[in-house]
Amino acid sequence: QKPIADWNAYRDQLESIQGPQKVFIRSAVHRVHENAERLGYLPKIVFPEGTSSKILMAIRTCIEEKICRPVVIGNPEQIKQKAKSHDIDLTDVEILDHSNDPKFPLYVEELYKRRQRKGITTKEAERLMSDPNYFASMMIDRGDADGMINGAATNYADAVKPILHTVGLAKDAVPAGLNIVLADNKLLFFADTTVNFNPTAEQLARIAVQTAQVAEYFGQKPRIAMLSFSNFSGADGTPAKMKKAAELAKKLRPDLSIDGDMQADTAINSEIQQRIFPFSDLKGEANILVFPNLESANISYKLLQQIGKVEVLGPFLLGSRRAANVLQRTTTVETIFSSVVLTALESQFITDWRNKKH
Ligand code: ACO
Repeated sequence: QKPIADWNAYRDQLESIQGPQKVFIRSAVHRVHENAERLGYLPKIVFPEGTSSKILMAIRTCIEEKICRPVVIGNPEQIKQKAKSHDIDLTDVEILDHSNDPKFPLYVEELYKRRQRKGITTKEAERLMSDPNYFASMMIDRGDADGMINGAATNYADAVKPILHTVGLAKDAVPAGLNIVLADNKLLFFADTTVNFNPTAEQLARIAVQTAQVAEYFGQKPRIAMLSFSNFSGADGTPAKMKKAAELAKKLRPDLSIDGDMQADTAINSEIQQRIFPFSDLKGEANILVFPNLESANISYKLLQQIGKVEVLGPFLLGSRRAANVLQRTTTVETIFSSVVLTALESQFITDWRNKKH
């Protein structure tokens, strides 16, 4: 894909997107609008990487498509300069100079309270809070914004840690990366593509169930494959881990079709399942692929993304208490736009859930 010089060139490229991605995202946009009408407001989404031109271009589209109320964190002069040099209109974009924000001392105090038994001092909390990623995380944690997106200009680990340190995890959740793979006649969910180097069987079972909840939200009946290099061997090492992960996931969600260990072709080809492994509890093509480790998951989604013929959305961060998603650094403006749409949707889901609870 060619680099995009300015907003006008980007708009032409966005309009040329066709196929499954367009259908999926259009339907998500429609749901964001319906929810916003019901709730009475568009979600406030905060962007800590205000000087990234890719982020600013995606924000412009979000405003035109009425996806969110964006807040961009950073030095106002630098942000305006960046927007000007790419011909991006900043109307309706709130720019927040976090270091001079009246809430800065309160956020520092809050971070210190949470991390004092993890070895941080007040001075350290102040230093961390001057990082826009921490400030944005604290905004969503305290309800001063509904969702956030970072990672377009920060390496993944540095972008995700502020979220884990402030927002933290939902009850019993395991943090994990999810990518959604869209092909003409397939919708696949890949996990964990970004967080855990070598997850245990227990963590993989939880990740599978968390992914199943996302698939169900998008109207898909989850069929989960625990992937390895062997079919139902349960051999020492990875096959045994994936076999155990399948057993644990079945206990967590006995209503779902889940099995493993199995190879990737068995997982997504029901003819192989019926002909060679008719005993498998996975009936039909898997739509959730749980990988045994970070290498296999990350390599798979990145290869697919480059080879083409499929569209890859995400990564999305599973397990966080609030809608916070971390992009890959090589992300494109279109992917940022789709990530904002899904972050907005996730934040509305969390708002509904919290309203029901209280
Ligand atoms: N289950 C529960 N909690 C967890 C888990 C887990 N699996 N992993 C992290 N946490 C919690 C930690 O307990 C910690 O909480 P606490 O500080 O309140 O006790 C918090 O999250 C963060 O902990 P840290 O110690 O600061 O960070 P950690 O060393 O755990 O690193 C990280 C987390 C950064 C996600 C690390 O696992 C990592 O680097 N993962 C790989 C990132 C990567 O390179 N991905 C691939 C490329 S990215 C891409 O393709 C877009």
